[in-house]
Amino acid sequence: MKSSAADTTPQLLIGEKEIAQRIEEMARQIAADLGESFVMVIVLKGAFVFGADLLRALGRARAQPRVEFLGLSSYGLERRTSGDVVPWTPIPIVKGERVLVVEDILDSGLTVTYAMEMLRQAGALDVKLCALLDKPAGRRTPVNGDYVGFSIPPRFIVGYGIDWAERWRELPNIAAVD
Ligand code: IMP
Ligand code: MG
Repeated sequence: MKSSAADTTPQLLIGEKEIAQRIEEMARQIAADLGESFVMVIVLKGAFVFGADLLRALGRARAQPRVEFLGLSSYGLERRTSGDVVPWTPIPIVKGERVLVVEDILDSGLTVTYAMEMLRQAGALDVKLCALLDKPAGRRTPVNGDYVGFSIPPRFIVGYGIDWAERWRELPNIAAVD
């Protein structure tokens, strides 16, 4: 692992085309399961690029979800989760709704477990989980994605909206920096 986010060269793991194809498949499955109307809750900031592409793929699959955002931090500038999840946006209004949580990476599972519990407490009928990447080896709490793009080894990822200390979100593909 390089010492700083600035002086590293990310190594390509998953290319743009492969990401796009997988998102189309996931969207078709989500639309088949959840139907036309549900609420997508995109977890900020890491999932904003994935969420935007997933939304348009859902449109092509004839789903028209409402879109909400939930800002959660657990890393600060570190590369390991602190375990304390801190919301920095209001909780979306989801009472009586079917909800799809959209996350970039599932690692320890602490962030999404917190998000899903918060949304259930806010009165969601049903909360499903969609994650672009899954690092099952990192789990500290039992949680499974209902829709997972790619299962990957426990490496540190950047690109496609995902950062290391706020850097590298602009990469169009998924890369590793370790
Ligand atoms: P968890 O709470 O440990 O499951 O971590 C989930 C959150 O940590 C994700 O929303 C990501 O923002 C962040 N995260 C986990 N792994 C990585 C990584 O490899 N690169 C960048 N962020 C990560
Ligand atoms: Mg995140």
